[in-house]
Amino acid sequence: MSRRPVNPARRIGDGVNIPFVGAVQSKSRSSPLLSIGLVVVGAILVIGYFYSGSGEPSSEIEVVSKVEGGVSCTLEVQRALPILKKAYGDSMRKVLHVGPDTCPVVSKLLKEQDTEAWGVEPYELDDTDTSCKSLVRKGIVRVADIKFSLPYRPKSFSVVIVSDALEYLSPKYLNKTLPELMRVSADGLVIFSGYPGQRRAKGAELSKFGRPAKLRSSSWWIRYFVQNRLEENEAASKKFEQASTKRSYKPACQVFHLKSHH
Ligand SMILES: *[C@@H]1O[C@H](CO)[C@@H](O)[C@H](O)[C@H]1NC(C)=O
Repeated sequence: MSRRPVNPARRIGDGVNIPFVGAVQSKSRSSPLLSIGLVVVGAILVIGYFYSGSGEPSSEIEVVSKVEGGVSCTLEVQRALPILKKAYGDSMRKVLHVGPDTCPVVSKLLKEQDTEAWGVEPYELDDTDTSCKSLVRKGIVRVADIKFSLPYRPKSFSVVIVSDALEYLSPKYLNKTLPELMRVSADGLVIFSGYPGQRRAKGAELSKFGRPAKLRSSSWWIRYFVQNRLEENEAASKKFEQASTKRSYKPACQVFHLKSHH
């Protein structure tokens, strides 16, 4: 269930085609078969819902992390939420997500019980739906250039998760932005970053950030963390790995867990 698709193009095709096929069928023959089919699908969804509420299903992890022919680490954050919850426990109740397309991540977090979530969109929101506009109106999602100070008090959040955003920063700006992300987090910072050579999803490679994404290797990142005295959050890393193994979850992006040093 939780295996990633071998052929992302086909997978995406499948997803896109389903509603279309449904529409065609209902037009060409408005058969009772279709209604029966819908009832069956509904029943499966309901059963699935109850199972996911009670057990430890691997199906909790979604199969989508590749869109438009490439990898989006923001989508990967959504996929990894059950694992992050295992790794961070109660700290996942007050979360800031920083990255493009933050609205779906924030919405998903807000659907969890006792969870508060906020989002920072690093550049601009385009083609936003009404629910995203509403999040912006309420101040839950903000558009802010992460090269500058973040508009939050110290330790405003337990965990800060950043995806597809640090890749656009030169080391000079990383030196400013990472301490900012640390400042507003109390229990840790989680970085989702693409692998070098990885094909990026359309939304994740936007040059609207002013420069193309620079996908750095894990050895680059680790050297950077060491040079800047950023410490790995070993407890969280270990729990994240254990939960990943247990659910056969393989992140499509690099995931780093850092301590928020205060
Ligand atoms: C970033 O900070 C590190 C450690 O303080 C320093 O060695 C490095 O030169 C800085 N990089 C830039 C580009 O300012």
